[in-house]
Amino acid sequence: MEQIFSSVYNEFCVLLDQRLDLNSLMLSTSRLLKSEISHYDWVGFYLLDAQNNQLVLGPYAGAATDHTHIPVGKGICGQVAASKQTKVVQDVAEQDNYLACSMDVQSEIVVPILKDGRFIAEIDIDSHAYAPFTTDDEQFLLAIAEKLAQLF
Ligand code: SME
Repeated sequence: MEQIFSSVYNEFCVLLDQRLDLNSLMLSTSRLLKSEISHYDWVGFYLLDAQNNQLVLGPYAGAATDHTHIPVGKGICGQVAASKQTKVVQDVAEQDNYLACSMDVQSEIVVPILKDGRFIAEIDIDSHAYAPFTTDDEQFLLAIAEKLAQLF
């Protein structure tokens, strides 16, 4: 894994050790990732509202978004909630099922947070760069998702 990801992962572990409440931890994690990883321009969490079969926006770092509630299946985020699989979109212009937050966004990665195999939340990253994501991003975000899952 590229050096930057290992060093930011170590900083994330320092946050974990602070035993923050889950919302504060998600907010601090969003801010850490956005500030340290140059191709992460918006970082946030969506949480499953199972009763209403929708995602609800949680803590995030970056511009405010209109997409505070997303039906499961809708957009990149909703597709990940339905499939429970990471989705990497290197060019959002090629996606039919996509919810635009800003015209600056060119790519997006969404990683599910699973607890005992059940989808409970996800990490969503928007980038203003075209095709910036590698398997390092996926592994790094998955490691964070797995740690956070234990706290839900
Ligand atoms: N682009 C997402 C919507 C959420 S924003 O990126 C913050 C989607 O297509 O689901």
